[in-house]
Amino acid sequence: MKKLKLLILGTSFFATTCLAVDGFEVHKKYCSSCHLSEITMEKLQKIESMVKAGKKPPIKAPPFPEVSARIKYFYPSKEDFIKFVVDYITNPSAEKAKCLPMALQKFGVMPPIGKVMTDEEKLAVANWLYDNYNTKWEDLPVGKKGQGQCKHKHNHEHMHKHMHEHRGE
Ligand code: HEC
Repeated sequence: MKKLKLLILGTSFFATTCLAVDGFEVHKKYCSSCHLSEITMEKLQKIESMVKAGKKPPIKAPPFPEVSARIKYFYPSKEDFIKFVVDYITNPSAEKAKCLPMALQKFGVMPPIGKVMTDEEKLAVANWLYDNYNTKWEDLPVGKKGQGQCKHKHNHEHMHKHMHEHRGE
């Protein structure tokens, strides 16, 4: 595998406007074996129901549209988002994770893939993860059900709504 040696002089760490590395390419190389970069709402919903039913999902990690929305929910500013992602992929841990506890339980903590990546690659992929998605957490099937709040474990709300149709008049 060829490694591109980049000499970036005098560039501040978070100055990300003219990266020499393409974020999507970085994703393909390092992330796509586990994270899907695209998924339909229907599929996302299906996977969520599987996880809820205690079944093993057909994927290895939460899809990126969901990951991006989730991290933005906690870190709306691009700078904070990028800082979090760059750090998380290098030193992931259950304590730091912003994923739903359910996701962590199903998938386990992700491996520290960032340890074999250059700073430029990490920044590029974090930028791409921010820019490429604009779906809000609240608009995703998993975010809709009031699970946006972390550690909201006691959700014993069962709604039994029976719709009785009274005909005949
Ligand atoms: C070997 C599989 C694997 C690879 C490769 C991988 N991830 Fe992950 N990733 C996971 C799993 C599993 C989770 C869910 C558990 C967690 O949050 O640690 C996750 C979660 C995440 C999260 C959410 C962290 C949170 O707050 O919970 C981010 C951000 C992320 N991955 C980014 C990346 C990026 C960027 C790459 C590529 C550079 C990548 N991942 C490569 C498996 C992987």
